[in-house]
Amino acid sequence: MKILLLGAGGFIGANLTERLVKDGQHEITALDIERAKLDETVKNGEIRFIHFDIRANEKKLERLTADHDAIIDLVAMANPSLYVSNPIDVFKLNFTENLKIAEFCVKHRKRIIQFSTCEVYGVTAARAFGKDSSKHPVPFAEDDTPLIMGPVKSHRWIYACAKQLLERVLHAYGLEEGLNYTIIRPFNFIGPRIDYLPSEQTGNPRVFSHFMNALLYGTPIKLVDGGVNYRAYTYIDDAVDCIVRIIDNRGGVCDRQIFNIGTPENEVTIKELANKMCATFDKYFRQPADPYPEIVSVSGEEFYGKGYEDCDRRIPDVTKARKLVGWRSEHDLDSVLFRTMKYFVEKHRTKQPSPGRDAVARYISREPESADFAICDGQRTDHLGNRLNVRKGRCRG
Ligand code: NAD
Ligand code: UGA
Repeated sequence: MKILLLGAGGFIGANLTERLVKDGQHEITALDIERAKLDETVKNGEIRFIHFDIRANEKKLERLTADHDAIIDLVAMANPSLYVSNPIDVFKLNFTENLKIAEFCVKHRKRIIQFSTCEVYGVTAARAFGKDSSKHPVPFAEDDTPLIMGPVKSHRWIYACAKQLLERVLHAYGLEEGLNYTIIRPFNFIGPRIDYLPSEQTGNPRVFSHFMNALLYGTPIKLVDGGVNYRAYTYIDDAVDCIVRIIDNRGGVCDRQIFNIGTPENEVTIKELANKMCATFDKYFRQPADPYPEIVSVSGEEFYGKGYEDCDRRIPDVTKARKLVGWRSEHDLDSVLFRTMKYFVEKHRTKQPSPGRDAVARYISREPESADFAICDGQRTDHLGNRLNVRKGRCRG
């Protein structure tokens, strides 16, 4: 199959492109305005890379769509600080420009796999009714759960609204024009090549990079509104494995379906995430010269600006992915954090100011004991009381 991967230079795109190249089943055209995360793959001549801004030339975008069998659309502004600082740009790119791609797929009868977001679920029903969502762990299901957004003045929701509207348009094109779409709602993927560290580039990346920056450079760990809200983290390799199954689409089971991709059992509050990252760093990566960051609480408005509001809790229901494509994620939270932190430590140690720089010579990555992680034989129970089958395995760093 000829696949056009839009946004291939981003975090998910680069990891997905590499996996598809490794599998060797498809012919890949990768498109993005950035290439750094894909440099090795491009240098090895393993893919056709097109440096192209999807806003720049509609005719070229249409020709490219017509020339491929399936279009995977990852292009978006996907960073909450941008939803607050540049809401119109977020709407224009994430809805208006992405709509053009969808309409080219309708016109040329191409399959589209559209990346949406778990943020379309908005806040929990508990929160909306003034209840404490920590006492109401209700998973979000693709085809049943209502989508509840905050008020218009909290313009953070423009990202979720743009993505939700695009989902609704794809659904309508499916009904009226027979568009073959699959929508993916990722729930907080992390892993190698997620964002830059804020000490090394201006901007306000996603939470993992902020906390990693604090551990390597000593900036404070800032818990927005005390870090009481929850996220459920999925390792990028697990996520990519599910995406590849959706691309393969055996028996057409993914046609006109929406999929959550997430790991309900990896749910933590952001405060717990900070504590776990500190503990993992101390256990496996700390060097004598490394700073001990202080942990402080800041308001959402102070951290992001006016118009920020948070998702309180988002637990994915992944029954559909299990049933239709036989997928479940394999990495528990300790493993996800260890692997992602290892990548960052190895990449950034040499850039630390002296004496941290000398630490690179002393840095030895310790393999965690298998007993440290919950990937082992037998059954365990998630926080909702569901019995989970877990495979035997050892986490290799
Ligand atoms: P990312 O920012 O790393 O990737 C987006 C890519 O789009 C970037 O490489 C960027 O250069 C590219 N891009 C932006 N504007 C472009 C333009 N005009 N023309 C061409 N390319 C352009 O984000 P990501 O984390 O890889 O997310 C990919 C998709 O998945 C996005 O649609 C995002 O909304 C969605 N998503 C991701 C997560 C997650 O956990 N990472 C969660 C929910 C939704
Ligand atoms: C994330 C991604 O940023 C989006 O790209 C994606 O679309 C979305 O998830 C999704 O999965 O659908 P979010 O989880 O809100 O959005 O963004 P993060 O920056 O990772 O923040 C997670 C939590 O940490 C939020 O509660 C935020 O307020 C908090 N935070 C962030 C801190 O407490 N401290 C920080 O330094 C940064």
